[in-house]
Order: sequence, then structure tokens, then C-alpha cells
Amino acid sequence: MSDVLQLDVLGNMRRTHTCRQLGVKNVGEEVVLAGWAQRRRDHGGVIFVDLRDREGITQVVFNPEMDEQVHLKAHEIRSEYVLCVRGRVEKRPEGMTNPNLLTGDIEVLVTELRILNFAKTPPFLIEDDVDVSESIRLKYRYLDLRRPLIQQNIIRRHKASVSVRNFLVQNGFLEIETPVLTRSTPEGARDYLVPSRVNPGHFYALPQSPQLFKQLLMISGFDRYYQIVRCFRDEDLRADRQPEFTQIDMEMSFVGEEDVMAIAEGLMASLFRDVMDMRIQIPFPRLDYDDAMNRYGLDKPDVRFGLELQDVSDIVAGSGFKVFADAVKRGGMVKALNAKGCMEFSRKEIDDLTALAAVYLAKGLAWIKVREDGWQSPIVKFFSEAEKQALASRLDMQVGDLVFFVADKAKIVNEALGHLRNHLGKRLNLIDDSKFAFVWVTRFPMLEYDETEKRYQAMHHPFTSPLEEDYDRLQDAPLAVKSRAYDLVLNGSEIGGGSIRIHQKELQEKVFEALGMSRESYEEKFGFLLSALESGAPPHGGIAFGFDRLVMMLCGQSSIRDIIAFPKTQKAACLMTNAPSEPSKAQLDELGIRVTSVRV
Ligand code: AMO
Ligand code: AMP
Repeated sequence: MSDVLQLDVLGNMRRTHTCRQLGVKNVGEEVVLAGWAQRRRDHGGVIFVDLRDREGITQVVFNPEMDEQVHLKAHEIRSEYVLCVRGRVEKRPEGMTNPNLLTGDIEVLVTELRILNFAKTPPFLIEDDVDVSESIRLKYRYLDLRRPLIQQNIIRRHKASVSVRNFLVQNGFLEIETPVLTRSTPEGARDYLVPSRVNPGHFYALPQSPQLFKQLLMISGFDRYYQIVRCFRDEDLRADRQPEFTQIDMEMSFVGEEDVMAIAEGLMASLFRDVMDMRIQIPFPRLDYDDAMNRYGLDKPDVRFGLELQDVSDIVAGSGFKVFADAVKRGGMVKALNAKGCMEFSRKEIDDLTALAAVYLAKGLAWIKVREDGWQSPIVKFFSEAEKQALASRLDMQVGDLVFFVADKAKIVNEALGHLRNHLGKRLNLIDDSKFAFVWVTRFPMLEYDETEKRYQAMHHPFTSPLEEDYDRLQDAPLAVKSRAYDLVLNGSEIGGGSIRIHQKELQEKVFEALGMSRESYEEKFGFLLSALESGAPPHGGIAFGFDRLVMMLCGQSSIRDIIAFPKTQKAACLMTNAPSEPSKAQLDELGIRVTSVRV
């Protein structure tokens, strides 16, 4: 005998409506609904079940006076059982309506019930705001995905990708797929490698982006390309980073910065209109990289609030406070941030902010409180009257203010104060959460110096074009060279980045050389690109948006994991399938791989 439990079959029962479609207009109609039992309430006699499908919840009613058999069977229903019911739509009695429910004015009086499947008691309630750890949610992701909020996120993500496709197709972009098994594309992260069985000792790299392929497509003549494409980067994960994530990737020929930015703005406007029913103001404001750093300390400024940083190096360079004077002497700087009205911050609060600045390597956080009876500060004794006056005027210091200072190398000062600014913006409620503030950051430096590796690195990627007037400085003043790169920043998050590319072989070689690569090395890695550049490469440029980050903002979520159906944890693991896992010895032997260390 079979030990499979006997279930009802669907038979000829076919769903006629979803929860969203039902309302007062259907009163009197016979309908068939299918879904999951959210909750069963037994009111001594009448049984109420909240039936859930992806569009909402409908109350279905089992009344013994209507049908005794069906009512008896309804006693078997438990949470998450899969049901199909036939019944008549009724208006709920006066006083029994539920304004929180889309279908709250009606209920369905059931005449036929089929229990299509049982369900074990779920490890957590399928409701929003359940108090359950994220690891349990991710382990049972298929249940977590039943929660209305996550379902809405996933549905919104779908709407966003439809909107993107529509806009790009209307603007003449072709969707072209590019390989996933490929060679390393340098985007600044580690590669995920895939061994090749038929080429022992050789590995593919999963693409960090389709950068080179999209450039090659331009050289092939497909002058407008796009792809909603998976990218893979082995990097430290954060709330807005996943090891595999999705880009809206695009490239255009015969364009300059303005053309790419205009298309990107059009895309954002149509996305916000389609998905959020919102009109956003385009074109977006532009900010030079240098201005962004000076005013906000970060290359992805949150421009929804002020609290801008001020350089005070010139004022304090000659002061008696050695920390400040020395920082300037060594080529560093001193910057300040006036936290208006924060004079009452306690010692402990200031210590916490100092700890925050220390995360970004600041060696201290000096401060001045502007009191009625004068300045209170551990460092004020070092300043002359003239210095004090200059500070008061530059920083607009008024009674009630609290001013913070960091002195160090520019990178540390900007990072520490930039993050302090974001922290204070939230903490002081300076941010209007309903606002979407876009800003382009342009004219990035071409290169940055990597202190640990002791060499120059491309700030964007090595295929980005320098500004024409800077070509000649690549050799003698590489750090002064600006690039034709642009990032799109939304509410302090980098949602996209791109550039006008190099389309001449000689210039590309010069850039590789500035990056410290030997001819041998760049020919081996990028010979195919160099050869393509010599074959009639049109001027071209493009951009890639972080689709997950965008959707996260469209959904008002603070974790990227809540808008991805099957995300990975901070340790790049999938708790549901237990990936990554150990391969069998036979698999490794076949690949010619010996494992020397294993996570325990
Ligand atoms: P970039 O490296 O700036 O540019 O990437 C483009 C955008 O992708 C998003 N992003 C990520 N999102 C989630 N998790 C990650 N680990 C992650 N890494 C990046 C960001 C970022 O702005 N090929 C170039 C584009 C170009 O030049 O056209 C590129 O990949 O939102
Ligand atoms: P100290 O002279 O070490 O007692 O420091 C006096 C004040 O200066 C303290 O509030 C420190 O937090 C602050 N301070 C020390 N180093 C720095 C720095 N590099 N930048 C800003 N403030 C600093």
C-alpha cells in the first residue's frame, strides 16, 4: 500500500479570480480561488480561513448550514495548507468589514473545498514583521518568499526590469548576451574562478562585468547594446553588496559623456514613472569629483542635506595645536564639520562619534562647543584670537553649535568626516526619506595609488579614457590626470558608473603602462582588445547600473538581500542549498585540483 497521504486532486477546479481581483462588484458571483491557508479561526460553528495568494488575502467562510460535509472537512485545514475553494462572493455583514484588507468588504461562502497539499507547521509565521532571525529566513527562503512584503519586492523588481527593457528597446538598444565563462575583467575585485576539465590547470573567470565584450560589440558595429546581466565579484560583502549581482549594462557608439548621461537620465525617469508613479526632475545636477570630496568628503555624497565640510587647513597651519599644524606641514589637511545645535552632546556621545571616525582611521576627533559664555574644547587653548575669529567666521559658529575636526592625510580626513556627516544627517533627522536625490559625480581622477601594492590603480577601470588635455601627463603626473568617468549617485549610494572609453590602441597601451603593466603582460591579457582597437574602433562609451541597489531603493529596503529571490549571506553562502560545498574527490581528481585547506 502506498504511504503517500491521499490528497484531493485539482480535477476540473480552475481558479477564476485572484485575491486582488475580488471586490464588492463580484457579490453574488460564484468564484474559484486557490492559495495557502494563512490562518484558520473556528468561531464555534462557522470556520473562517484567510486564503492567501500572491496578490492578497481573501476571507473564506465554512458554514455548517451551507454545507455540512465541507464544513467538517474545513476542520482539517492548518497553516500553509494548499487549498482550492469554490464559493459565492458575499458582502460582509455591517461592522465586519476589514479596511486593512484589499478584499475586506467581501468574503467567500464556500460550497466546495479541495485540500491540494498539507504543510508541516512552518518554522515562522508567514507574515510581515515576524520576529525571526535572518538565517532561519534564508534557510527556508521558499517560505520567507511567501511573506507579502518580500513578494511585493520581487514583483516590483520584475516591474523594474520590464520598464528598463521597454525604455531601452524604444531607444534602439539591442539586447545581446555575453559569456559567463570568460577571462578576468578587472573591476577591482577578486575573480570567481571555474576550472576547465578539458584544459587541466586552466581556469575561466566569471565576469566582474561584461566590460570588454560590450566594447567589442561596439567595434563590431552594434552601436547600442544593453543587457540585464549577472556579474560576479569576490569582495567583502556589505548591506548593499552581493557576490553575484545584476547590472543594467549598456554601451553606445559615437557618443560623448552628455549622450550617455542623457540616456541614463531618461532611463531613470521612465523607471520612476513606471514603477513608482513618480516624476523625477531631469537632468540631474552634476558635481565635479573634487567638489564632491571637498564638500562632502565622499565620492557618493548624500545631497539630501547640508552639513558640508570646510577646509580650515590655512587657518590652523600656524597654530599652536601640533596635531593640526603637523598634518598640514606633512601635506595633509584639517577639515571641520559644524553640527548645528548639537552643543548638548554628552561626553559619551562625542566618544562614540570619535570611535566612528576611528573606523576610517582618524587618529582623533577634535571638537569645540560654542556656549553662551565662550568656547568649550580640549584644543581651544592652542588657538590665537585671530585664528579663533577666522574659524568662527568660516564655520559660521553660533551659540549652540558643536564643531568637529579631523587632521590627517586628505583620504583619511575626507572619509572620516564624510561618514560622520552621513551619520549625523540620519541622527539629526536632516534627511527627508521621501526624497530621491540624484547627482552625477564627474571628472574622476584616472588613477589612485595603492599603498599596499605600491602601484597605481585605475579608479574606474583601465579602459576609461583620460581627458584629452591630460594625455601628456600620464607619464610624469599620473595622479593629476582626470578621466571621462561618471558615477550616478542616489541618496548617497552609487547606483551606476561608466565612462567614455579609450578607442585608440596607442592610448590604451599608454594607460596599461601607467598602471605598471609590462608590454608582455598586457599583450597576454588584453591582446584581443588591442588588436580590435586597431580594426576600426568607433568612439564609444557606456554605463552600468547596479540593478539590485536601484530596486532596493525603489522598494525602500535597507538590505540588498530583501530584493533578491535567493540571496547569499555576508559569508557568500546560500543557507538553503548549502552552497558553496565540498566537491567529491573524483571531481577534484578529474580537474587536477588538490585542496590544501578546508573551512571547518
Ligand atoms: P562598476 O564597477 O561601477 O562599473 O559597477 C556598476 C554598478 O554595479 C553596482 N555594483 C554592485 N551591486 C551589488 N553588489 C556588488 N558587489 C556590486 N558591485 C558593483 C554598483 C555600481 O555602480 N563595467 C563598469 C561599467 C561601465 O564602465 O560601463 C562597471 O562594472 O551600483
Ligand atoms: P590630545 O592632544 O591627544 O589630547 O588630543 C586633543 C584632542 O584632539 C582630542 O579631542 C583628540 O580626539 C583630538 N585629536 C587628536 N588627533 C587628532 C587628529 N588627527 N585629528 C583631529 N583631532 C585629533
